[in-house]
Amino acid sequence: MPIYLKLNEIAMNFRGAHILSVSQFQREDIETVFQTADAMAPYARREKVTKVLDGAILGSMFFEPSTRTRVSFGCAFNLLGGHVRETVGLQNSSLSKGESLADTARVLSGYSDAIAMRHPTSGSVAEFAAASRVPVLNGGDGANEHPTQALLDLYTIRKELISKGRDLDGLRIAMLGDLRYGRTVHSLAKLIKQFKGVKFSLVTPAELKMPGEIVEQLRAAGHEVTETENLEAGIAGQDIVYMTRIQEERFPNQAEADRYRGKFRLNSAIYTRHCEPHTVIMHPLPRDSRPEASELATDLDDNPNLAIFRQTDNGVLVRMALFALVLDVAGQVDQHARPVNWYAGQRG
Ligand code: NCD
Repeated sequence: MPIYLKLNEIAMNFRGAHILSVSQFQREDIETVFQTADAMAPYARREKVTKVLDGAILGSMFFEPSTRTRVSFGCAFNLLGGHVRETVGLQNSSLSKGESLADTARVLSGYSDAIAMRHPTSGSVAEFAAASRVPVLNGGDGANEHPTQALLDLYTIRKELISKGRDLDGLRIAMLGDLRYGRTVHSLAKLIKQFKGVKFSLVTPAELKMPGEIVEQLRAAGHEVTETENLEAGIAGQDIVYMTRIQEERFPNQAEADRYRGKFRLNSAIYTRHCEPHTVIMHPLPRDSRPEASELATDLDDNPNLAIFRQTDNGVLVRMALFALVLDVAGQVDQHARPVNWYAGQRG
């Protein structure tokens, strides 16, 4: 496995690192994560099992609703042979008794070999990590960042583009919906900033624009950024259309969120009329499928350019890669492998 021989020469020292922000990753680090993720595919497809993390424990602490991030972090650790111990909901944690993040981190890191954490407050996961004795992976901190989602999104984008003979430099991407509170688009935009000559089309209501400092960073790095409230213009001529949900839980009140729900909807008719034939449709999920929202209609589900479930599958590979890198076992995964015993079904 030649890629692992390079690990000592890489810019970022993954061993023991916390994964808190996409700003930690240079281009070569992103490449390391992606190559390691590629090597995880046989395990995620259940062609082989590995016990490389046998005996290791992941502390999984999710203090906001989560399905795919929480479960895919857990499955990624399990697929490497480790065990997962979950705390779900602030009310089930001593944080609700007034314990500080630092004390909780000191305690949990005594029980775990790595910690995956989601919390409603920006900066909280970094505060927690500062007191942890084991690597902490940010599963989303308020409206701030969601670095592992951005890595899996970019991994997906690259795979989709490669299948169409394109590369990340010169990418044309539209981001739609709630770019003010959406942490996935904050992290993804900052990660894509590493590449060259990207054209960003940001489609939002005026009140839900991408934070000005991120737009400035993108422009300062030489990228083209256009902001519009017009969906049809915003999605024309794009490689990727990345939809998002209105982040209702971050609005001061429900009535405010209701004003924006359903404002930008992508369905098959709009896609066919305004997008290029190969435009890839993405969404971090969950999509809000209630009739008043429906930002991504199910009539697109049979469209081969809909990549949303390829994103969720790729999340396991990328999270396996991150665990393997921060726990420094990427080079040993195959040494602890054996065939699966069970009928493993059909996996892409
Ligand atoms: C996103 C999140 O939690 O930020 N979901 C996810 O992790 N895939 C997006 C969202 O909740 O809208």
